[in-house]
Amino acid sequence: MELSTKVFGRLGRFWRSNKLQFGVYNKVAPAETTPSRIVPDHIVRPHYVTGQTLTIPHKPEIKDINQIMGMRQSCNLASSILTKVEQFIQPGVTTDEIDNVVHNLCIEAGAYPSPLHYHGFPKSVCTSVNNVAVHGIPDLRELLDGDIINVDITVFYKNYHGDCSKTFCVGNVDDPGKQLIAVTEECLEIAIKSCGPNVPFTEIGASICQHAKKSGFTVLPAFLGHGIGQYFHGPPDIYHSENDYPGVMKPGMTFTIEPVLSHGKEYTIILEDGWTVITEDGSRAAQIEHTILITENGAEVLT
Ligand code: MF3
Ligand code: CO
Ligand code: CO
Repeated sequence: MELSTKVFGRLGRFWRSNKLQFGVYNKVAPAETTPSRIVPDHIVRPHYVTGQTLTIPHKPEIKDINQIMGMRQSCNLASSILTKVEQFIQPGVTTDEIDNVVHNLCIEAGAYPSPLHYHGFPKSVCTSVNNVAVHGIPDLRELLDGDIINVDITVFYKNYHGDCSKTFCVGNVDDPGKQLIAVTEECLEIAIKSCGPNVPFTEIGASICQHAKKSGFTVLPAFLGHGIGQYFHGPPDIYHSENDYPGVMKPGMTFTIEPVLSHGKEYTIILEDGWTVITEDGSRAAQIEHTILITENGAEVLT
């Protein structure tokens, strides 16, 4: 919190001057939070919690029918939890309460909430509000009418991770905010349509970048999609902006696409908590994420 005050102080004047350009919204800084939630003993934990070593493939994995079944189950669960969470997104609700809901839905389903203790992340879900681009830590700040919030849910279920996120409106959001969310969703849709066997991974970034630019928004290039399976993050890296990442898609690959767009510049700052990423210029950011499977004739959304 120390750093965020400093950062906010330094950029305060710039943010105020950008209010009209970027719309009307509350600039968010991390707040006090509650302890990490407890996972009952019977829930199977991922390797980064147990301390076991898991060998992550060094090139994009082509999953067999059983692995694909595992991915379908974890991804179904992640998306069903994301759908259930929507009704809790209301003014006055804290992001910590959202964490509680997600945590309990995971446990009830027999799943482990993948973010919890992943490289030290302290909560069971990521909640990123307004100018927080990604990896917001749920805390005691109450959602305000007009906020936009990304809820990023990953579950570890029957030994497979499933990962998805969506940006929701809290009450009445201004038009620039709604447009940002709409274009971010269009970018993901266009990117998924571009996927299929033998398509270069570079197509994803190219198609997203083109649509974002045409619509007057900026892709934040620091955030990548990723291969996913019994591991949370593995190859391939999925760039959402122009790139020269090598390789082509093959049937049986599963990876996420998760573009982050803003009204402003592409620069971001990681706060002192080591997780919260804010936009440098204070503009709002929106993100959406699906886990997809490359099939014989295109791509199937698993989440
Ligand atoms: N769910 C995020 C992703 O899409 C990763 C969050 S890592 C965490 O890749 F530790 F912050 F949870
Ligand atoms: Co995610
Ligand atoms: Co992801």
